[in-house]
Amino acid sequence: MAGLKIAVMISGRGSNLQALIEACAAPGHPAEIVLVVSNNPDAQGLGRAAAAGIPFQVIDHRDFEGREDFETALDSALTEAGVELVCLAGFMRLLTELFVGRWRDRLINIHPSLLPAFKGINIHERVIAAGARFSGCTAHFVRVSMDDGPIIVQSIVPVLPDDTAETLAARVIATEHRCYSLAVRLIAEGRVRVRNELVLIDGASAAEGAMINPALE
Ligand code: GRF
Repeated sequence: MAGLKIAVMISGRGSNLQALIEACAAPGHPAEIVLVVSNNPDAQGLGRAAAAGIPFQVIDHRDFEGREDFETALDSALTEAGVELVCLAGFMRLLTELFVGRWRDRLINIHPSLLPAFKGINIHERVIAAGARFSGCTAHFVRVSMDDGPIIVQSIVPVLPDDTAETLAARVIATEHRCYSLAVRLIAEGRVRVRNELVLIDGASAAEGAMINPALE
C-alpha cells in the first residue's frame, strides 16, 4: 500500500532530504516522497532527488512578482502531486500566512537548535557564545512566526569545550537526520495530533534519565 505522500522543500545541500530519502526507502515505511521542490536552481539536493528517481521541481522565487505569486506556485505544485505533508529541509524562504495557513498542521520544519532557544540564523556560533552545555535540534509544525510552532521531536547533543561552529554543526546535523526521519515516520503512522498548540504522540515512550555535561567524573 502506498504511504503518506510527502514533499520535501529545500534550498541547498539537502542532507536532511537524503536522510528522508533513505528512511522512506526502507521496506514498509509509511511515507513516500512524491516531490522535491527547490527555490534555488543550484541546490545540491536536487541531484540527490534525481539520483533517487524522485520527481523534482525548481520554483525560483526570483521568477515571481511577489511572495503571494511564489507561494501560489508552490501550492499548485504540491497540490498537483497529491502531497499530504510538506517537510521543509533547509528551505531558506520565509512563508506567509497564505501558505502556512493552507498547509496548517501538514507543514513541518527541522531547526538546528533546541527551540524555543536560538531561533534564526548563526545558531551554532550563538550557542557557543552563550556557553550552553547542550544543543540539539527540533522538528516542529510550522507557524507564521519564524522557528515557532508545536514541537514534535527534539534531540540533544553536548557542546564540547573546544567546539567551533563547524564541529558543533556537524554533531547537530547528524542528529537532525534521525530526528526528522522519526518525526516524519510518527506522522505517517497517524500517531501525531496537535491539540491546543501542543503535540500529542500516541504510544510514544519517553526518553529516560538525565544527561549531565560535563560528565560528573
Ligand atoms: C539544517 O541544519 C536544518 O536544520 C536547517 O537548515 C539546514 C539544512 O541542511 N533548517 P541540509 O540542506 O538538510 O543539509
